Amino acid sequence: MSKKQIEKILKRNPLGGHSIVSVSQFDNEIIEYLYSLYTLLKGNNGESKRYMKGKMMTALFFEPSTRTSASFIAAMNKLGGSVVPITQGVEYSSISKGESFEDTIVTLEQLSDVIVLRHPEMGSAKKAAEISMVPIINAGDGVGEHPSQALLDLFTIMDECDLEKDLNIALVGDLRFGRTVHSLAKLIASVLPKSRLTLVSPSMLNMPDYIMDELRRHSTRYSEVISFNPENFDVVYMTRVQKERFTDLNEYEQVKDSYRITKDTISLMKDNAVIMHPLPRVGEIDPEIDSDPRAAYFRQVKNGLFLRMALLLSVLS
Ligand code: NCD
Repeated sequence: MSKKQIEKILKRNPLGGHSIVSVSQFDNEIIEYLYSLYTLLKGNNGESKRYMKGKMMTALFFEPSTRTSASFIAAMNKLGGSVVPITQGVEYSSISKGESFEDTIVTLEQLSDVIVLRHPEMGSAKKAAEISMVPIINAGDGVGEHPSQALLDLFTIMDECDLEKDLNIALVGDLRFGRTVHSLAKLIASVLPKSRLTLVSPSMLNMPDYIMDELRRHSTRYSEVISFNPENFDVVYMTRVQKERFTDLNEYEQVKDSYRITKDTISLMKDNAVIMHPLPRVGEIDPEIDSDPRAAYFRQVKNGLFLRMALLLSVLS
């Protein structure tokens, strides 16, 4: 990728110095800007000049993570920056001594140029952004949002689908507690307004009202169903039932195996359907379909690296 091309795109960077808390921050111009930067980085497999040399990213993860933390860390390394990883064993940090969330953020802000935060409480990223002088990137705030995942999901759809057509998109599984689908539904409503959304979940796990309000505000065509018929979809986005969010594990047991994609299911799907999942999967997708070209979930992981490079470059430039 030419350095000149990247620098040209960065000239119209609307995100410099900004926190990324919710996808509601993104208008179509920002999405178009991020998608061009992502596409350039992807075209060169993420090889880049060391734009972030001398910059420090703190990865502060109060909840488990494999992909999101690893991909932010890999993205920062690829850009030549450094990382303070507080990604495992938060029990060994001063939080276990009773330090407040505010003090933790203000402390890490002294050492960092950006803080990537995952926290079990909805609204925590917003709270951190209000007290921090350096940008906060929300890597998942409880049952709230997961903007970087939703962006990589959206860009995967944009890369893999024919956008000339009105897309038929199914979001399947835990729509109540799944933060990735909260952010993604909002992005689809605003960026792909001609799509038709089918929300597939047991009634216990319906999409929350505040997201449904957003869909109505955008006049998105949607339906809510319980049983999943995979035929006619261009995109099938599966999710894990979020066991850790249930207070009553009997309820979890009732809904945990609601949907599963197997060889039989995909034989009913369109030839060019795209099967997605934010991962980790715990039974929603049978590994026997991984080699089917329609299975896009590991391509999503790869796209996540380029998207997070684009985000870090933007926020820190
Ligand atoms: C998701 C999350 O943490 O919300 N994982 C991820 O970041 N890729 C989905 C999940 O945990 O089910």
